[in-house]
Amino acid sequence: MTISKKMINAQVMESNSHLFRCPICSSGMMMADKSQLVCADNHSFDLSKSGYINLAPQAHVTKYDKSLFEARKIVMSSGFFNPVLDYITTKIATHTDKLEQAFILDAGCGEGTHLSAILSQLPGNKTGVGIDLAKEGITAAAKVYPGSIWSVADLANCPFQSNRFDVILNILSPANYAEFTRLLKRDGLFIKAVPESGYLKELRAVFYEDEGRKDDTDPVARFAEHYDVVSTERITYVFPLAPGLLAPLIRMTPLTWGASEEKIEEALGMDIQNITIDFTVILGMKKIE
Ligand SMILES: C[S@@+](CC[C@H](N)C(=O)[O-])C[C@H]1O[C@@H](n2cnc3c(N)ncnc32)[C@H](O)[C@@H]1O
Ligand SMILES: [Zn+2]
Repeated sequence: MTISKKMINAQVMESNSHLFRCPICSSGMMMADKSQLVCADNHSFDLSKSGYINLAPQAHVTKYDKSLFEARKIVMSSGFFNPVLDYITTKIATHTDKLEQAFILDAGCGEGTHLSAILSQLPGNKTGVGIDLAKEGITAAAKVYPGSIWSVADLANCPFQSNRFDVILNILSPANYAEFTRLLKRDGLFIKAVPESGYLKELRAVFYEDEGRKDDTDPVARFAEHYDVVSTERITYVFPLAPGLLAPLIRMTPLTWGASEEKIEEALGMDIQNITIDFTVILGMKKIE
């Protein structure tokens, strides 16, 4: 008998129900009938058909929609991010080496490909938890990558108990440093991947022309205000775009939000064969007072 993906996800949730905290009243939660998480104060949240749990008390409509996540999945599955993910995986493997079990939270996981790729390379007993405010991303993750906990949740109100995670990942997503500090174990590792000026520069050249990088806040300095920086690594490479990947690449990125149809057509018509990936990966530990 084959066990459904929903049931696989329900089992992971049940055996790890100690992780959860009610997003409404902050009390502990338990799994009931493999179909609901219920808190001590009786707030209840149903497991969806695809096997994720929605723990965002309010519904949120975000600009990250189904077609964006489908495009992200196509691009991410092409090996586009592999050097970055390999680096992160090695760091997690070293950090969790001696642990019997490790809990890894991907905060702002999108459609889950990064977390799933990382988990598939890690030895031992690792539990992956992916959260994102965009329901479309979490739906895709729960369907395609059963065996982890997938939850619609707001980074500003993470539905988990304090000091539970050995690793928190935050790739291309906003950070909520107060929540991450609360969730991370005392000797946990926080990993943040931020785009640098060369990231997708071939697309920026079309969509932003000469505007350059708009955001001039320094992510490493901001990180260092909250965490002790263990290391920073700039990872830069050129990825050859296979035929057919330019269209999903254009669709997957917020860079093209607000662009006119003509601009998108113009970019699609360009013979972009290589695309630059340029990241800084920052590793940090909690500041101990
Ligand atoms: C650029 S995407 C990156 C997704 C994924 N980490 C990746 O690299 O493919 C940014 C993600 O952050 C999520 N996000 C933004 N604000 C959030 C919030 N307050 N709580 C949870 N997720 C949020 C978005 O829904 C989106 O999926
Ligand atoms: Zn509650």
